Amino acid sequence: MNENRTLLNKRIGMLGLGHVGLTLGLTFAEAGFTVLGYDINSTVREKLKAGNAHFSERGLDDLLAKHLGNAFQIVEGFSDDTTCDVYVVTVGTPLDAQIRPDFSYIRSAAEDLGKCVKKGDLIILRSTVPLGTTREVFLPLMRKGSGLGEHDVHVAFAPERTIEGNALEELRTLPQVVGGLDEASTELAGEIFSTLTDTVVKLPSLEEAEIVKLINNAYRETVFSFANEVSLVAKQWGLNTKRVIKAANEGYSRSTIPFPSPGVGGYCLTKDGFLLSTSAEAKGLKLQIIPQTRNVSSTMLHTVAEELRSFVATHRPYAHAPRIAILGFAFKGNPATSDMRGSMSVTLVKRLKTMRQKFELVGYDPLVPKERIEELGVHAADSIEDAVAGSDVVIIMNNHEHFRTLSGLHLADGSKGPVLLYDTWGLHDPADFSDLSHIEYRTL
Ligand SMILES: NC(=O)c1ccc[n+]([C@@H]2O[C@H](COP(=O)([O-])OP(=O)(O)OC[C@H]3O[C@@H](n4cnc5c(N)ncnc54)[C@H](O)[C@@H]3O)[C@@H](O)[C@H]2O)c1
Repeated sequence: MNENRTLLNKRIGMLGLGHVGLTLGLTFAEAGFTVLGYDINSTVREKLKAGNAHFSERGLDDLLAKHLGNAFQIVEGFSDDTTCDVYVVTVGTPLDAQIRPDFSYIRSAAEDLGKCVKKGDLIILRSTVPLGTTREVFLPLMRKGSGLGEHDVHVAFAPERTIEGNALEELRTLPQVVGGLDEASTELAGEIFSTLTDTVVKLPSLEEAEIVKLINNAYRETVFSFANEVSLVAKQWGLNTKRVIKAANEGYSRSTIPFPSPGVGGYCLTKDGFLLSTSAEAKGLKLQIIPQTRNVSSTMLHTVAEELRSFVATHRPYAHAPRIAILGFAFKGNPATSDMRGSMSVTLVKRLKTMRQKFELVGYDPLVPKERIEELGVHAADSIEDAVAGSDVVIIMNNHEHFRTLSGLHLADGSKGPVLLYDTWGLHDPADFSDLSHIEYRTL
């Protein structure tokens, strides 16, 4: 008990208050730590200071309201009066225009930390990184700024593995993986995370912890892409993909194939396979399966867009700009999120806009703010009913529960010809539309 109290006396500094940093920082506050949060983006800081989270996540608003100004404080940087004992780095690690890892945020965080870290502090890198980044990119820069020796600070890598939309719950239930620079770092980082969750998986090196995150996500992208390829074969043979996947999985524990989607999206799954490939290339190895998965997603999107084009070419040959309603702009709908990074809907919009055939695009998402949809050049509707009314094509692009409420009654009456309802996530029972001659129901 006393030991735990000593641990909770440690002050935690979060560098980056995005999806990962804000949820984790508030979870540490809820566990009893005092947490100081800094984000380089002043708009983010100001919004948070005013009590407004800048993205949607279940339970986030309540937790922010509970701890803001008390156990969780927004600071303007880390200096003498905001010094901490533990720093957690959660800055972004996007890909650059050449599809190479962009280390600029990691570098700037390391430099910032170099100015404030003291002997005995613990630094935890939480961002998803290619293998070797903590040791070879982050540490040298941080040390250079601090003037500290090799083992003066504890350093660990601890990957974030929560699912967006359910992050706050998963932070308290998922095993936390930690790998340190040395045993003392692993132990200390393990103790910090053991205040959140029952299971801490300790690994003997930074790199083993780094690769856990990469293989978790590369694996997910691979199995989703596999399911998507299955749907392409089934489609060509006129088979019901969901039914055959269900049959393949039923009572057969050696097969857990997911259902298909119009392509694998999201900030993490669209880049982490690349980060693993880059890690292999750093050691002269060219991976074969993982680099192909992005091509499968491109093929899915291409196939879907082509089907829309060919439907209107057949059923609205004289229409100047047939109306397409796109439902779902967040990269996924379950668990629900407002995050549009890596969203297949954004890629679909771009593709439709480059076609010779012009379309009137209308969009709706229960969580994405309307202005974000408008920024794509898509008219944002107020409701699902507004979006689909009068549309020639309705395409469901994510698996938000709300889209299950769509019924034949909402769709146009078919006086101009049938309406295509393309349910790319298979949310509906095709039988619900089989008697409605004005609707052509399709799924993957
Ligand atoms: N989104 C997820 O659910 C998720 C899940 C697992 C892992 N990850 C990984 O975690 C990392 C962060 O992801 P995210 O979704 O939170 O990104 P994000 O873009 O939402 O948040 C990163 C934040 O860091 C801030 N930042 C950049 N440089 C900074 C600096 N020097 N000091 C302070 N703040 C700085 C940015 O302004 C931004 O607000 C990425 O590596 C990502 O791959 C994300």
